[in-house]
Amino acid sequence: MPITSVSEAVAARRSIRMFTEEPVDRALLETVLEKARQAPSGGNVQPWHATVLTGARLERLKQETRAVMMRAPGAEAPEYDIYPPDLPDPWRARRGANGEAMYNALGIPREDKGRRMAAVARNFEFFGAPVGLLVHTPHFMGKPQWADLGMWLQTVMLLLVEAGLGSCAQEAWSVYPQTVKRVGEIPDDHVFFCGLAIGHPDRTAGLNQFPNPRAPLAETIRFLDD
Ligand SMILES: Cc1cc2nc3c(=O)[nH]c(=O)nc-3n(C[C@H](O)[C@H](O)[C@H](O)COP(=O)(O)O)c2cc1C
Repeated sequence: MPITSVSEAVAARRSIRMFTEEPVDRALLETVLEKARQAPSGGNVQPWHATVLTGARLERLKQETRAVMMRAPGAEAPEYDIYPPDLPDPWRARRGANGEAMYNALGIPREDKGRRMAAVARNFEFFGAPVGLLVHTPHFMGKPQWADLGMWLQTVMLLLVEAGLGSCAQEAWSVYPQTVKRVGEIPDDHVFFCGLAIGHPDRTAGLNQFPNPRAPLAETIRFLDD
């Protein structure tokens, strides 16, 4: 079903972690990125930078990351914390529920740590996607500019849905910033934020279909009018 409204694109977008073998048309991807230039940013600063990896370069990143993981997992110093240390509820509980829903879709029970770890490691294969996009920005950018990166990312993700493609944002890659930056030729004075796996969604995969409910509106939004 073609996407004909913003509401449809927002509702249809979800993280895609299983892709078909079909390659992504370069011109289509360029059109998406061209359109995403229209994303808003404070002061129209447009702090987003991205490096798109395909083909041999993508394979090289996967291979070199695999080598680091095998040799010395956790050897690279992340440039930021993915989550605040000791994330309290309700945020912690939401994170846990997301993980459980994902492992459930894969049929991996809590006690099967090996298969759970293998599922997490698929992050470093870009979930089999034919395109891996790396998002980065100069180190001196602050929190408002990082928020702008998020707005740009969501714009890209919605346009990908409209184009019949799927994606999954991936902070997981931030665990291996040195390898990502070396292979992606990302400037030293940039901080690497996240990856974005891009490809044609495998629409039959349970991993692309599990429910991932959101908190009721009243938990996050207040209206004050007195
Ligand atoms: C900035 C960002 C980073 C993310 N990093 C990862 C990741 O490393 N691995 C992963 O499997 N999902 C990752 N996700 C996907 C989230 O888990 C997902 O967006 C959330 O659970 C909501 O589900 P949905 O995208 O399917 O609606 C990330 C999402 C965002 C926005």
